[in-house]
Amino acid sequence: MKRNYSSQEYWDSRYTHEESYDWLHTYDDIKPFIESSKMEHQMRVLVPGCGNSELSNDLYNEGYTNITSIDYSSVVVDAMNKKYGHLKYEVGDVTNLSTYESGSFDLIIDKSTLDCLANVGEDTTVRYAEEMYRLLSNGGIFVVVSYSNFRSETLMRENTMWEVLSE
Ligand SMILES: C[S@@+](CC[C@H](N)C(=O)[O-])C[C@H]1O[C@@H](n2cnc3c(N)ncnc32)[C@H](O)[C@@H]1O
Repeated sequence: MKRNYSSQEYWDSRYTHEESYDWLHTYDDIKPFIESSKMEHQMRVLVPGCGNSELSNDLYNEGYTNITSIDYSSVVVDAMNKKYGHLKYEVGDVTNLSTYESGSFDLIIDKSTLDCLANVGEDTTVRYAEEMYRLLSNGGIFVVVSYSNFRSETLMRENTMWEVLSE
């Protein structure tokens, strides 16, 4: 199948035969950023567009136990729930997680999900940025791991007020 990152069908198909893949970086690479945030191990973590990345399990092994991982591909969510029964994987559209109250998470870690949504279009990335902003608690941190230098511009929309800590 052609690589169409903006299509859910592409991801469903990919996840029927791919067991594990980490986009851009592994947890070990981003660990210094997470640790410098000085977040408690009990903090509520969201991994939006988790795919079949090892990130959530690596976080768990580091002592973070309150982790919610969400992806719109039920194929990968079913596979990850089977693989890691101690973790919480849910099917959901990360641009609209209305079942979650505002301020539900203290740390959100996006690893190339915003990159993927950028293929869909600007409306989608803005909706996503606003949704992540809504879900973050006061003083919460949104870590965005991206191949692009321009993602912070996407985040800086009029309905959000991010303080950029590091680029
Ligand atoms: C580039 S992959 C990154 C996967 C993972 N975060 C990693 O670091 O390896 C993008 C992921 O976002 C998911 N995705 C794309 N659009 C989504 C949406 N609107 N809601 C939920 N998940 C989405 C895809 O299914 C895919 O798993």
